[in-house]
Amino acid sequence: MDIKVLSLPAEKMKQKTRDESQLGFGKLFTDRMLMIEWKTGQGWCDARIEPYAPFVLDPACTVFHYAQEIFEGLKAYKWPDGRVVLFRPEMNARRFNQSADRLCMPDISEELFVDGIKQLVALERDWIPTASGTSLYIRPTMIAVEPVLGVHPSNHYYFYVILSPVGAYYAAGFNPVNILVEDHYVRAVPGGTGEAKTGGNYASSLKAGLEAKKKGYDQVLWLDGRERRYIEEVGAMNMFFAYGKKIVTAPLNGSILSGVTRDSVLKLAPTLGYEVEECPIEINALMADMRAGKVTEAFGSGTAAVITPVGKLCYKDEVLQLTGGKVGEITQKLYDTLTGIQTGKLEDHFGWVKFVE
Ligand code: COI
Repeated sequence: MDIKVLSLPAEKMKQKTRDESQLGFGKLFTDRMLMIEWKTGQGWCDARIEPYAPFVLDPACTVFHYAQEIFEGLKAYKWPDGRVVLFRPEMNARRFNQSADRLCMPDISEELFVDGIKQLVALERDWIPTASGTSLYIRPTMIAVEPVLGVHPSNHYYFYVILSPVGAYYAAGFNPVNILVEDHYVRAVPGGTGEAKTGGNYASSLKAGLEAKKKGYDQVLWLDGRERRYIEEVGAMNMFFAYGKKIVTAPLNGSILSGVTRDSVLKLAPTLGYEVEECPIEINALMADMRAGKVTEAFGSGTAAVITPVGKLCYKDEVLQLTGGKVGEITQKLYDTLTGIQTGKLEDHFGWVKFVE
């Protein structure tokens, strides 16, 4: 499909930030966005790259009432030689379509998803920050825009992609975050939408997140929705626990997100001499292992969060500290290797990076 590039008037071009240490996460957006529409009977149509601007939407649109919405997150990096790469974009395209299927939204071809993003990122390449720990965050999104109050899948969708130059997701940067294991609220149940990347999962996590913040924690770690015993994920990250040289993570059981960074860690770690295992992690057993000093490190993985070390874990008022509040050796090694591949400093033996031009 041809993607039209609409002109960007000089007065609509924004000032590019100069101080990359102040970027934060998702607060600043580039000059252009990709927009493709889907209509019943017509399919994907009217693909265009246009100036970034607010939408005018009917207040009755399905997305506002019944939350028919999905999104993705991936990143672009500018290498020291000026080349621009995306990290495993086809994985995001596949997951986007899995989310679309769960939310009864139309499938988009992997080719259109990836090529559209490549064209947009190529046009916006001057926005890609290059300081250590920075990147261009890419947010593909699909929303239902038919103005009708009946509860049924929409007949009209917007697929759009916006870009945001970002630094670290957590304000503390690459430093340990403290996590509260949530034993009251649940994020997902078997058969629900936990595996889909849909806004509702994040909306329903806000209350637990706020309550955890009040207690001094950065994030909540969700337990399974049936027994509240098995570790699932932190909303913005999958979780890993190290037992010496063995790293364990919860299996993809249908109610946690199938993280691209999670998959990358599972493939990368064995090449660095670590054993990996996907297995159910029971919270009482984990706490006992932490008390006994068997759990040597914990970290989260996510596109926004990259590899984030965990400092304290609190469950039912018991607080246990890992690695003395420092970044553990395995966490550091995985962070350095993954970001090294993404930024072109280390060779990519996996075929993960995709050049934009
Ligand atoms: C991502 O890591 O890309 C996400 O979508 C998580 C979000 C909470 C920022």
